[in-house]
Amino acid sequence: MKILDPIRIGTATAPNRIAVPAMVTRLSGEDGFVNQGIIDRYVRYAEGHVGLIVVEATAIHESKSGPLLRLSRDDFVAGHREMVKQVKDAGPSMIVPQIIHFMKVARSGWRQTLDMLSPQDIDKIVEDFGTAAARAREAGYDGVELHSAHAYTLSSFLSRRNPRRDEFDGRTLEGRLRMFGRVMAEVRKRVGNDWPVGVRFLAEEAIKDGYALPDSQRIALRMAQLGVNYISLSVGGKFEDAVHKEGEALYPYTGYSGDRCMPGEQYPPMPHVHLAASIKEFVNANGFDVPVISAGKISEPADAERLLQDGKADMIGMARQLLADPDWVRKVASKREQSIVRCIYCNVCKQLDENFKLVACFLWPKGVEQAPHEDTTADAPAWPDGDAGLTAKFENGAVKLAWKRATGAATGYDVYRVEADGTPRIVEAVKGTKFVDRMVLGGLAYAYHVKAYDASGHTSPPSQTVRVELPIPAYDETAHA
Ligand SMILES: Cc1cc2nc3c(=O)[nH]c(=O)nc-3n(C[C@H](O)[C@H](O)[C@H](O)COP(=O)(O)O)c2cc1C
Ligand code: SF4
Repeated sequence: MKILDPIRIGTATAPNRIAVPAMVTRLSGEDGFVNQGIIDRYVRYAEGHVGLIVVEATAIHESKSGPLLRLSRDDFVAGHREMVKQVKDAGPSMIVPQIIHFMKVARSGWRQTLDMLSPQDIDKIVEDFGTAAARAREAGYDGVELHSAHAYTLSSFLSRRNPRRDEFDGRTLEGRLRMFGRVMAEVRKRVGNDWPVGVRFLAEEAIKDGYALPDSQRIALRMAQLGVNYISLSVGGKFEDAVHKEGEALYPYTGYSGDRCMPGEQYPPMPHVHLAASIKEFVNANGFDVPVISAGKISEPADAERLLQDGKADMIGMARQLLADPDWVRKVASKREQSIVRCIYCNVCKQLDENFKLVACFLWPKGVEQAPHEDTTADAPAWPDGDAGLTAKFENGAVKLAWKRATGAATGYDVYRVEADGTPRIVEAVKGTKFVDRMVLGGLAYAYHVKAYDASGHTSPPSQTVRVELPIPAYDETAHA
């Protein structure tokens, strides 16, 4: 399987092609130091044999914010060194921190924008990226990722909405690229050429007048020309369309571009893979083979494998899927794909992040801080007397399902639906024994079954299948008269 093939990233090697992109955990305090809770989160990915672990956004400067890791002073290094050690002791993963600079935001809704930065401010940001990268190397990381995505400073320079009119002129691609070029030059000066430097940036800004694929292909090419060792792609997550809540600082994932950044259940699987494929094709066609990481609602092993086989990506990034089940790689490697705890893209984790609460997965047992370890000795959940008693009733435009509680340590139930003889898909995971499917269309036939799952991803046999055939509604009111 290509998923399990090692891949060269500059002078290092990731043991397989699955990456966990940066995801803030809100496990750190406002002091910015690494603590054991944070270490445990990343150790879990290493235990699961994730190829590349990108540690959550880590500030290069002292600017105030909520809970956030930092590498803005030398005294932060020791904690990171301990994290790297424990991660390396736990598994074969490559580990890098994502380093970030962000501008100021206020509770009034005011935010600092690029045009407010003086030449001295810009010089300081460049310098801070260099020193933070050097600290990351000192801490023993396998490389560093420069956060140039979403609503943050480097991304704002790359944006078509960059308001500057000096050498960082937002009206030209070269002007927009200048800041990244300066940062990259400084980082290389500080860490040398023999240590991986990756980048994360937006394949599409997903805001009005923002950039899209033609720009991102060329931005990626410049990054390759500058010698980045991998390119990780994201989408959206901007301030420009963020929704301001009275008395709270703007949060860049509250608007449409935020939906695109962490596509929820309403989006189809893999809505962004065409962007990564086109960017990779363009970079390769221009003579560079820097690995490209594609992310966004990719969770099925067969999908991930096909993307790699078809040359549409070099690595697959899975943020929420690996949060839900950090053992994804190990389960795929041991042909136990059916035991993967499937992310249902409910975005509970996103809401926790938004409210500065500890980021956990809705599918984990209640109250735990980390993904539970797989208990291979536990009996899988089962149905009482082998009968789930599944029933389905069509009422008020929705199909109402109910079933019996499973025996054993079931923590929830996956509801599978087949629409019009298509493929069975999980439409929802629920903790109780009822589900209302509001996304059904008259004129189609539906078949449902449920499986109980436990914290390790072990599942019961499927329940019996129930079928419902829905009539096309009559819209002619006179027919009812
Ligand atoms: C809780 C949470 C925190 C995130 N934090 C970051 C972050 O610190 N840096 C970043 O580049 N992306 C961050 N993201 C975006 C993810 O890395 C990823 O791009 C996005 O979730 C889409 O991938 P997925 O569908 O595999 O989850 C975060 C996403 C979530 C859900
Ligand atoms: S909380 Fe929901 S979206 Fe987030 S990882 Fe868990 S299942 Fe996926």
